[in-house]
Amino acid sequence: MQITVIGCGYVGLVTAACFAEMGNRVACVDTSAERVEALHRGISPIFEPGIEALLQTNHAAGRLTFSSQLNPVLRNSEVVFIAVGTPSAADGSADVSQILEVAAQLGGALESPTIVVCKSTAPVGTACRVQSILDQHCQRRGVNWRHSVVSNPEFLKEGAAIDDFMRPDRIILGAEDASAERTMRRLYEPFVRNHDRILCMPRRAAEMTKYAANTFLATKISFINEVANLCESLGVDVEEVRKGIGADPRIGHHFIYAGCGYGGSCFPKDIRAMLHMAQEREMQLPILQAVEARNQAQKTWPMRMLRKLYSEGVAGKTVAIWGLAFKPGTDDIRDAPSRVLIEGLLDLGARVQAFDPIASENIAKAYPEAVARGQLRLFSDPYAVLNDADALALITEWKQFRQPDFALMARLMREPVIVDGRNQYDPAVLGTFGFRHVGVGRVPMDSPAPLLRKVV
Ligand SMILES: NC(=O)c1ccc[n+]([C@@H]2O[C@H](COP(=O)([O-])OP(=O)(O)OC[C@H]3O[C@@H](n4cnc5c(N)ncnc54)[C@H](O)[C@@H]3O)[C@@H](O)[C@H]2O)c1
Repeated sequence: MQITVIGCGYVGLVTAACFAEMGNRVACVDTSAERVEALHRGISPIFEPGIEALLQTNHAAGRLTFSSQLNPVLRNSEVVFIAVGTPSAADGSADVSQILEVAAQLGGALESPTIVVCKSTAPVGTACRVQSILDQHCQRRGVNWRHSVVSNPEFLKEGAAIDDFMRPDRIILGAEDASAERTMRRLYEPFVRNHDRILCMPRRAAEMTKYAANTFLATKISFINEVANLCESLGVDVEEVRKGIGADPRIGHHFIYAGCGYGGSCFPKDIRAMLHMAQEREMQLPILQAVEARNQAQKTWPMRMLRKLYSEGVAGKTVAIWGLAFKPGTDDIRDAPSRVLIEGLLDLGARVQAFDPIASENIAKAYPEAVARGQLRLFSDPYAVLNDADALALITEWKQFRQPDFALMARLMREPVIVDGRNQYDPAVLGTFGFRHVGVGRVPMDSPAPLLRKVV
């Protein structure tokens, strides 16, 4: 099939590469000339394990092309995917202007009936808005055919995106006409060969399914974080509780890890968008309001712990950070908890020494002034950040942080203190190396810590 994918970000590139891998001819379009130019040189503008090789081989085989011009690539496209951003607007709503702009461009450019697929996460009713924009263009041009708009939200996870796309749990198709549904089923058939995992429903239900899925996962995280806070004050280890409840198959082990909050390009903005959808209908969603509020508070947890540890203040202290991306496996720092900590430390006059295997460059771009004045230093070696550090905050649980050389760490640091924002470490093991360990919902802060020097 001949496909066009508009938007060369995390979703667009993965979608394009995976469809090309199945033998389709895919044209990728992005308004960012920089992104397109990088793609021509075989460089992926996003970090995603396996994406670069997939882009290169399919480009070399002539199945994948990149362009910053939409009109020329649309010719003969049977299906056009819209995978542009839907960031939060100032009022919390999802800003769908990029989608609507693309719809208007398509309306003016498409010469024959085409399936236009909304892959971006967009509020209920967006596919209908795209349909009416396209219909208006058809009317204006006096043609007697219509385009078909399908809602096909994406569920991939950054860091495992290719695997998720190639082996999806489900494919949601919101389609209102049978012919478009058949074509979409045919397109996805190679991805669901062992058993059908395609669920067809009205477009509005498809749009809502995406929001309900993301906000439910966010709810699980905020729930366990709330339990962790109570555990902390009761002297209960939330890790025991997590294992205890996760063993119940109705609850399961996924998404019940206490930590310093969720971030990324999806959960925070999708919660806000869902709240806004309700607000527009003069409704309240108290559960989701609480999920959002808990997460905001949770993101300040590392800073609160550091302030408790240093009653004299963190000004002048050197704090090392391990992990800057919003989660392992990605370079994405959108709404990342690391940013709340960095900003808090910079505001209070602390020095920050940070390491991330992939995301440092993005953080450097986000805080150029702090980098220029030397208050924020980014390192390419995880141990280098520990030199003379008064504490280490673990914020993103990259695998390489799981079993570090604790003896070396203790020697390098000025104070052997770990604020473990992802509950990666066993406090008893760390104790044998002379560390004080502060975890989320674990050892109460007020418990005696004889090994800790200078710290209350
Ligand atoms: N990132 C994820 O993990 C993920 C997962 C599922 C769904 N989503 C949703 O998918 C959508 C895209 O997310 P993303 O993370 O890929 O975004 P992204 O910001 O990484 O990529 C969007 C791309 O669209 C391009 N673009 C914007 N306007 C354009 C236009 N008029 N024509 C061509 N290109 C244009 C931008 O330059 C950018 O490269 C969002 O709605 C998001 O919520 C994201």
